[in-house]
Amino acid sequence: MRSHHRTTPRTARVLGTLLLVAAAGSVTVGATPAAAPPAPTPLGRVVPAPASVTPGAAPYRITRSTVIRADGSGAGRRVAEYLAHLLRPSTGYRLPVTSRGPAGIRLVLSHDPFGAEGYRLHSGRDGVTITAAAPAGLFHGVQTLRQLLPAAVEKDTVRPGPWLVAGGTITDRPRYAYRGAMLDVSRHFFTVAQVKRYIDQLALYKINELHLHLSDDQGWRIAVDSWPRLAAYGGSTQVGGGKGGFYTKAQYREIVRYAASRYLEVVPEIDMPGHTNAALASYAGLNCDGAAPPLYTGTEVGFSSLCVGKRVTYDFADDVIRELAALTPGRYLHIGGDEAHSTSHEDYVTFMDRVQPIVAKYGKTVIGWHQLTGARPARGALAQYWGLDDTGAAEKAQVVRAAQHGTGLILSPADRMYLDMKYTEDTELGQDWAGLVEVRRSYDWDPGAYLPGAPASSVRGVEAPLWTETVATDADIDYMAFPRLPGAAELGWSPAATHSWDAYKVRLAAQAPRWDALGITYYRSPQVPWPAP
Ligand code: ACM
Repeated sequence: MRSHHRTTPRTARVLGTLLLVAAAGSVTVGATPAAAPPAPTPLGRVVPAPASVTPGAAPYRITRSTVIRADGSGAGRRVAEYLAHLLRPSTGYRLPVTSRGPAGIRLVLSHDPFGAEGYRLHSGRDGVTITAAAPAGLFHGVQTLRQLLPAAVEKDTVRPGPWLVAGGTITDRPRYAYRGAMLDVSRHFFTVAQVKRYIDQLALYKINELHLHLSDDQGWRIAVDSWPRLAAYGGSTQVGGGKGGFYTKAQYREIVRYAASRYLEVVPEIDMPGHTNAALASYAGLNCDGAAPPLYTGTEVGFSSLCVGKRVTYDFADDVIRELAALTPGRYLHIGGDEAHSTSHEDYVTFMDRVQPIVAKYGKTVIGWHQLTGARPARGALAQYWGLDDTGAAEKAQVVRAAQHGTGLILSPADRMYLDMKYTEDTELGQDWAGLVEVRRSYDWDPGAYLPGAPASSVRGVEAPLWTETVATDADIDYMAFPRLPGAAELGWSPAATHSWDAYKVRLAAQAPRWDALGITYYRSPQVPWPAP
């Protein structure tokens, strides 16, 4: 099978086309950055940039007689129904989904080597065909199709159209298998509906992993039957002292189901042994001194630790991991491991030696923040790097050494990928401990070259975490995630050969009308040549 890291002559040619198309729409931004450039053609503005793009002559026009066809009745059919649901409100058309006969939009599962998530989209006068080897590829192709239509297609009321799908052929597959976003539902609690809204935003950009930070000092957010006070008491507040909340198991399953319907895998995190005040407050017996601390609603870190020497700590870990693993169809269970400043190094290593096998016992693969590499990462474990460009050489070397010994890496450098960092010093929300992270800074780096010495195969992908000490509403999420989230998605999906800030910023600008149509409020960075509002 062709490797997407290697560039064949054919790909080189079509990549050249893409870059030309993008360049034709770009302008040189000098001292006066305000002038909006001419809009790139729809094929040239897709985010994340596809692996190859060949513009065609004639567009396909969706009309009131358009039919959507998917073979069979399984997952491919459900992707077709999802597409119909997307298109019906704004077009006002019936768009029936069928399994046979002529159709303007066809979703085809084939044995062609598109990989687990790749697809080919062909659009011309006679129709649109999306072909993939697996339903996930059809789903990602549908996200591309959305972006080939006018932004008004995202509206929830009938619009006039015309509904032209730009003509051409896109052949596409991801650079990395792990393309994640994290939502911290502990510092502020977010409802199932709010999480679903974020899932839909992630899906538009082909992100396929939703990491939920389910526990921290300020709140425990998932029901655990064997330790009911974790959620009932430990989930009863949040940063600032609001009422907090938690997911019942039924609600959590609904998040997992909804994410799966958008081809996202949920990665649940229980952060241990630090960041555990909510648990320690809920059960006095978990504390070394047998005394429960009060609930905590501030934003300090590093003051709490599970009691590594107590047997009950591992009963607790076993019960929590067992119940969470049973709720989790996904492969991973994240055990945190960051900022354990109140745990000695020796205790930290002991704790990780005892808890990682519990994760394996319940059939899951460990993910930990990269401090896990200072202990003994289990075979197959993934470490999530959240250091900075200028993190010390010794710490980076420890991560690189682990990668050389088989630990996989998820890259979330905090001064690039943290969506909670302020854009500028004037940004009202967010934090600045990792620095100010404007849009260009968040996009303009290469995951493949970020940690020299780490084997290329160790880099499994990237993730954009959104910590929520200062983030409490949908609008807050939108403002911090947009426009940086699409850049994170592009770093995970697009071939390195497409990477170009000058081309990207033009494609990014062209997303703004879509966000307006979707009701997403975003930061109008002066680095991006936005169209007039
Ligand atoms: C982290 O930001 N403490 C992982």
